[in-house]
Amino acid sequence: MATGSTKMATTEFTNSNLEVMYSEADIKARIKELGTELTAEYAGKDLVLVGVLKGSCVFMADLMREIDLPLTIDFMSVSSYKDGTKSTGDVEILKDLSNSIRDKHVLIVEDIIDTGLTLTRLVEILDSRGAASIKIATFLDKPEPRIKKELVVDYTGFVIPNKFVVGYGLDAAGRYRNLPFIAVVIDPSVA
Ligand code: IMP
Ligand code: MG
Repeated sequence: MATGSTKMATTEFTNSNLEVMYSEADIKARIKELGTELTAEYAGKDLVLVGVLKGSCVFMADLMREIDLPLTIDFMSVSSYKDGTKSTGDVEILKDLSNSIRDKHVLIVEDIIDTGLTLTRLVEILDSRGAASIKIATFLDKPEPRIKKELVVDYTGFVIPNKFVVGYGLDAAGRYRNLPFIAVVIDPSVA
């Protein structure tokens, strides 16, 4: 072991370029509250949780274990069409649901809502398939850059300022999805 060195080796989770916004404990406590609310709301209803890949996978895994009801899960993967760097609001379905949602109560499970363009279009698509109801649960809501102001967000984990965050399923160029907390990347130019 090196002596006289005070420099600690950093790992992906202790990377000094990350500033924690919500800890693992904060997240766990909030999801427990959401689960209690959803358990009461969907009692006696045929519930299907629809996760939007890939970002929602961690939230989905934790949230469903706090909903004490019979339910099923399904996943969709969509990509937003971009015109340069701006989202056009049109989405391409990369992976569709495996099962019909006709007469089911659908709860869309999303990682974060930013402009709201992706989810607005997704709700329109699912709405044409005869669901009994469609609601949205998002882990994070970033209302400031919202373009679709009319989008109704039914359940929210945390409302955050207009900052780019990573972890708990959210990525920056594919990285950081495995962080067990939500963090801001202090200097995005540093790998
Ligand atoms: P929008 O609401 O159509 O703008 O798209 C939301 C999507 O943009 C999310 O599902 C994320 O994939 C991505 N996104 C928006 N803000 C962030 C962020 O702060 N970190 C990581 N991904 C984000
Ligand atoms: Mg997403």
